[in-house]
Amino acid sequence: MTDEQYVDGLFGEDEDLVRTKKGIAERGMPDISIADGYGRLLTMLAAMSGAKTALEIGALGGYSGICIARGLAAGGLLTSLELKAEYAEIANTHMTEAGLGDAVEYIVGDARESLARLREEGRTFDFFFIDADKEGYPVYLEHAIALANPGAVIIGDNILLRGRTTDPAKEGPSVKAVRHFNQQIASDERLMSTVLPGYDGLAIAIVK
Ligand SMILES: C[S@@+](CC[C@H](N)C(=O)[O-])C[C@H]1O[C@@H](n2cnc3c(N)ncnc32)[C@H](O)[C@@H]1O
Repeated sequence: MTDEQYVDGLFGEDEDLVRTKKGIAERGMPDISIADGYGRLLTMLAAMSGAKTALEIGALGGYSGICIARGLAAGGLLTSLELKAEYAEIANTHMTEAGLGDAVEYIVGDARESLARLREEGRTFDFFFIDADKEGYPVYLEHAIALANPGAVIIGDNILLRGRTTDPAKEGPSVKAVRHFNQQIASDERLMSTVLPGYDGLAIAIVK
């Protein structure tokens, strides 16, 4: 048993999240939702920061959406960007089944375009979760900082790329982009940040 399996085993099953994972598997979607422990952390960080508006980049089947929306202040709204219309629809179904249908809106399309539009519209957010194509991470981080209210929280998942980030033989575009993103997280003076190496790695930052 790994340390992560031990820790996950301490917590009881969450009916909504189990249903969501089952729905994702039954529809043949990839098993790439956020790790259970980091899902709990998303809820906690959203709640601890008092966030009311959240922006997620990469919805898949709604697992992380449920975790984020649960932590938002009363009347809060999660805006979720997803490339594939069918995924957004499934995520919406899972959010609704979890009683969170009123707490989410989906914007379908390439997140780069959706983010540019949100900036044009003058939208701002208290909480961000970056979890889409890895090549986009540096661009997504810049958009998140531009869309952030002071004190906003920015989270990025999979920053270790299952060992590829630290493997010097790996030089593909996703690996290069994630290394760049991690450097930005660590050194950008607009941020206060840390990186957790558990599961597949999670970056956490606060916009000063
Ligand atoms: C790792 S999954 C997201 C998992 C989800 N956040 C969770 O933990 O439950 C990545 C998602 O990003 C979406 N995606 C990939 N490229 C994208 C893009 N350019 N714009 C928006 N979404 C994108 C994929 O379709 C996929 O649903």
